[in-house]
Amino acid sequence: MSHIKTSMLAAALIAAAFSGAPARADGDPVKGKATFLAVGCFECHGRSGQGGRMNYPAPPLAQLQLPPESLAAFLREGRNDMPPYVASQVSDADVADIHAFLQTLPGPTDPKKIPLLAR
Ligand code: HEC
Repeated sequence: MSHIKTSMLAAALIAAAFSGAPARADGDPVKGKATFLAVGCFECHGRSGQGGRMNYPAPPLAQLQLPPESLAAFLREGRNDMPPYVASQVSDADVADIHAFLQTLPGPTDPKKIPLLAR
């Protein structure tokens, strides 16, 4: 009898851990890149997270300073021209992956590192 209770408790704990689990800090940057392209982040923020200038003045996202849970919270709300993404569109796991991808992007190049411009 007690082993049944134990396994039910374990199942409940596992269910609790997975439902509404906060975005993980250990996202997969390869999946994150695919999601970033698939769900359209790149349309406004650029493929390299360099930020947009054409239709929307979307800020650069390379080396984003927000922690993953803040990124998830921000995405759920949106702001001004930044559309909200609900969890059925971009899950918390997807957000963790996108976050990991953004950390791999180098951000702007120092002009002195361009050989022609180096002096
Ligand atoms: C339709 C254009 C558009 C799309 C698509 C879009 N964004 Fe944005 N995003 C914006 C704009 C514009 C802002 C600036 C909002 C403001 O502060 O007024 C912004 C702001 C942000 C910020 C805040 C950056 C900061 O430094 O304050 C983050 C993070 C972000 N977007 C991530 C994403 C991610 C991740 C996706 C894809 C899931 C995405 N955005 C899709 C336009 C877009």
